[in-house]
Amino acid sequence: ATTLKSLAEAKGRYFGTALTAGDLGVSGEMNVATAQFDMVTPGNEMKWDTTEPSNGSYNFGPGDQILNFAQAHGMRVRGHNLVWHAQLPGWVSSLPSSQVKSAMDAHITTEATHYKGKVYAWDVVNEPFNEDGSLRADAFSNAMGSGYIAEALRTAHAADPNAKLYLNDYNIEGENAKSNGMYNLAQSLLSQGVPLNGIGLESHFIVGQVPSSMLANMQRFAALGLDVAVTELDDRIQLPASGSALAQQATDYGTVVNDCLAVSRCVGVSQWGVDDGHSWIPGTFPGYGAATMYDSNYQPKPAYNATVTAL
Ligand code: XIL
Repeated sequence: ATTLKSLAEAKGRYFGTALTAGDLGVSGEMNVATAQFDMVTPGNEMKWDTTEPSNGSYNFGPGDQILNFAQAHGMRVRGHNLVWHAQLPGWVSSLPSSQVKSAMDAHITTEATHYKGKVYAWDVVNEPFNEDGSLRADAFSNAMGSGYIAEALRTAHAADPNAKLYLNDYNIEGENAKSNGMYNLAQSLLSQGVPLNGIGLESHFIVGQVPSSMLANMQRFAALGLDVAVTELDDRIQLPASGSALAQQATDYGTVVNDCLAVSRCVGVSQWGVDDGHSWIPGTFPGYGAATMYDSNYQPKPAYNATVTAL
């Protein structure tokens, strides 16, 4: 049977999805996930608030559950994530700034060592930029300045030298102020010999709004010698979704997949979730939904057919 993963693999790419621990018990959803996808990103289970809810106490149970499921089904894992301003436990934000670096280094070392050799890649720093391309003010930049990103990458590399190390963000899919900020940072890190392997373009799109400069933008990162990946693709529609919106969504998915395939360093595409019924979109963007390739009954939508055609 035609599957996303077999078509992607034939092109030297992967096709991934995000799964949460709750998703693992939903058999219809897991039938699609295991048939179609060959890469898994844990939706929440490897984030700091889960893995180190209090200082020095680690909880890898939920992340291990996702990893074990993925391994049992021949899927690889993108580790997500080590450092992020969100889903960050209160104890980190409350630390005196003089203690943030050692807390960050300990967190990265412990988590990346726990998963050493088991994850394909790590989103080492997630969402570090503001929309204008400046660095986001958070516990890490406040304590260490922009140098926290190099520190995080070096620390992750020391713990798991074979994992591909990524910076991941949203609204950096096209060429704009924010992706310029990421580009300038990436160039500067590489010139200092910092272990950075790839840039993740989250790709949480609104239907009809895939940036026309996405291909050129991926190409400029690739030209730095970096991998690029579409890490969290979805394409939200105002509900109820009309037939024309679903047709535009199909066009959008085809465009994203074609853009990735046109860039030799684009290693794969991951959708954020399996189906519309379990997507994060309706909970986070009220009034929007229908953002994935599968409807709530696990039936493929026009976006699935367009993806297959593009692959
Ligand atoms: C989302 C999860 O899907 C939700 O379950 C959670 O409540 C919030 O985070 N960017 C990211 C992901 O990098 O980690 C986010 O995941 C979606 C946006």
